[in-house]
Amino acid sequence: MAHVLVTGAAGGIGGAVAEEFAAQGALLTLSDRDPEALERTAARLGGKTAAHAADLTEPDAPAALVEEAWAARGPVDVLVNAAGVYPSLDMAEVDARAWDRLFAVNLRAPVLTTAAFARLAVAGGRPGAVVNISSGSALRSRPGGGPYASSKAALEMATRAAALELGEHGIRVNAVSPGFVQVSSGCNPVSAEYAAAIGANPLGRPGSPRDIARAVCWIAGPDASWITGEVLRVDGGSSTGALHLPRIWQPGDTRATPLAASAATTEGPTP
Ligand SMILES: NC(=O)c1ccc[n+]([C@@H]2O[C@H](COP(=O)([O-])OP(=O)(O)OC[C@H]3O[C@@H](n4cnc5c(N)ncnc54)[C@H](O)[C@@H]3O)[C@@H](O)[C@H]2O)c1
Repeated sequence: MAHVLVTGAAGGIGGAVAEEFAAQGALLTLSDRDPEALERTAARLGGKTAAHAADLTEPDAPAALVEEAWAARGPVDVLVNAAGVYPSLDMAEVDARAWDRLFAVNLRAPVLTTAAFARLAVAGGRPGAVVNISSGSALRSRPGGGPYASSKAALEMATRAAALELGEHGIRVNAVSPGFVQVSSGCNPVSAEYAAAIGANPLGRPGSPRDIARAVCWIAGPDASWITGEVLRVDGGSSTGALHLPRIWQPGDTRATPLAASAATTEGPTP
C-alpha cells in the first residue's frame, strides 16, 4: 500500500487528489494550514488517513512535515505539493512581504518538501514520485497575476531541476498544470466575471478538481514510470492558443469574424 503525502489537502484540488488516492487504497497523510477544514477532509476519507496541520510559510515546516509523516507512518512513496495561493497582485503594487509570502507557499515549500523527501528516500534506497501542482499561468500571465505566474514558472524549472538530479535514485519529479477549475476556495476567491472569462477551452466543458486529481494519480503511478521532469497540462486544451480571438479573415470564409474584414482592407490580417 502506497503512503501518499498531500499538501493543501483541505483545498479543492488537494482534496480531490486525496480522494482519488484513497479510492486506490493508499495510506494518506494530509496537510494544510487550515486545521478544521483538514480534519473534515481526513474524516471524510476514513480510517487510513492522518491529518498534519502546518503553515508551510514557516521556514522549517516543509521539511518537518515530511520527516514527521515518514517517522509516524512509514516511508512516503508519493509526495503531492498542492498547497498554493493565487492573490491578485499587480507588478506595480508588489512589495517584499507579499512577494515573499507568495513564493514561500508556491515555490519554497514544494522545493523544501521535495528536498526532505529526496534525502529520506535516497538514504533508505527507496524510489518515489513527486507531483507539483503548477498552473497555466507559468506560461501566460494576466493582469494581477504576475507574481503568481512567476512563482509557477519557477516551480516548473525546479521540477525539471529536481528530476534531473534525482532520476538516478529512482525518484521521479513531475508537475501537473491545471487550467482554471472552480474550487469555491476560501483563501483563493475568484470573481464570477473572472471565472466566466477564463473558463473557455477547446473541449467546451469546465474542468473539475477530479480531472486534475486523476492526472496526478496517473503521473505518480507505475504507468508513468518512464516519465520525469514533465509538465502535464490538464486544461481542456486552453493552453493551446487564444480561443477567444476572432478568426483571421480570408475572402469567402463564411466562418470568419466580420471584424477581420475592416482591418484587412487597410492593414492586412494580423498574424
Ligand atoms: N483552481 C484552479 O483553477 C487552479 C488552476 C491552476 C493551478 N492551481 C493550483 O492548484 C493548487 C490548489 O489550489 P486550489 O485551486 O485547490 O485552491 P484552494 O484554495 O482550494 O487550495 C489551496 C490550499 O492550500 C492551502 N494553503 C494555502 N497557504 C498555505 C500555507 N501557507 N501552508 C499550508 N497550506 C496552505 C489552503 O489552506 C488551501 O486549502 C494551488 O497550487 C494552485 O496554485 C489551481
